[in-house]
Amino acid sequence: MNITNKTIIVTGGASGIGRELTIEAMRRGASVAIADLNIEGVLATKELAEAVATAGATCSAHQLDVSNLEQWQSFRDAVLTEYGHIDGIINNAGITFAGTAEATDYRQYEKVMSINFMGMVYGSKELLPHLHQRPEAFIANVSSVCGLFAMKKQSAYCASKFAIRGFTESLAQELIGSPILVSSIHPGHIGTDIVINARNSGNMAGDLPSEAEQEAIAKYFKDYGLSPAKAAEIILDGLKNNQRKILVGKDAIRGDRLSRLMPQTYANKINKLVP
Ligand SMILES: NC(=O)c1ccc[n+]([C@@H]2O[C@H](COP(=O)([O-])OP(=O)(O)OC[C@H]3O[C@@H](n4cnc5c(N)ncnc54)[C@H](O)[C@@H]3O)[C@@H](O)[C@H]2O)c1
Repeated sequence: MNITNKTIIVTGGASGIGRELTIEAMRRGASVAIADLNIEGVLATKELAEAVATAGATCSAHQLDVSNLEQWQSFRDAVLTEYGHIDGIINNAGITFAGTAEATDYRQYEKVMSINFMGMVYGSKELLPHLHQRPEAFIANVSSVCGLFAMKKQSAYCASKFAIRGFTESLAQELIGSPILVSSIHPGHIGTDIVINARNSGNMAGDLPSEAEQEAIAKYFKDYGLSPAKAAEIILDGLKNNQRKILVGKDAIRGDRLSRLMPQTYANKINKLVP
């Protein structure tokens, strides 16, 4: 799927992977409708992306809570009015949540599922009728390595990311033979603000490390992951090559292989590294 001259949507475009996806897509000649809860972040992404865009590629900034169906419908209509059609969507917006299953309450599970899972379901289903009208189109849903194998103290996040993978792989089978490519994206450790954003939003439960330790963990996470710009390149290359499963980073490739080769023991080994 070549995105040059296509019109695409990127959710979660205010920061991290979504920001870099927008920048790279516009560099490759796509026009992008950028959506996020954080409109200031979206506007900053717009400015950065416009500075490197191929001639003819444009972008628009939208505030959207992906967990709200009515907002999705208004957003989709605004994009159709502005561009006339939509060729693809990257459902990237997401949050993480840290805490044992015992400490995580039902409302917290609902919050994570409504943003990560239902946000992706709304984006996919609200766009499908329009994507069917295009000569070629795509739906790319950002899961995680936590949609391939599970980490402790991440039951809400892992459940949402396994759910994204299940939905996406099922939809991909339904659309075989159609012009719509459906891809499940599995990033490994990417150096973004996702852990800082979780702290700032109170997305944590149970016995928490001290403030200083939390800060150190968030800093380590941001400083030592694969760069989000490289992640965006890998994702867009994967779509270009019509990949249905896109593994982002060496850790994702290794984790995917090992979890299939050592299904009984791999998760134990990985989780020994989790504090
Ligand atoms: N960073 C990683 O290591 C990693 C690994 C695997 C998967 N992922 C996934 O990649 C995606 C992007 O994460 P990131 O690392 O760039 O994090 P990030 O926190 O930098 O970006 C996430 C974006 O989603 C937006 N968002 C959150 N809730 C929203 C809502 N209700 N409606 C609209 N937008 C909302 C945030 O405002 C933010 O801009 C997420 O789905 C995440 O789960 C990240």
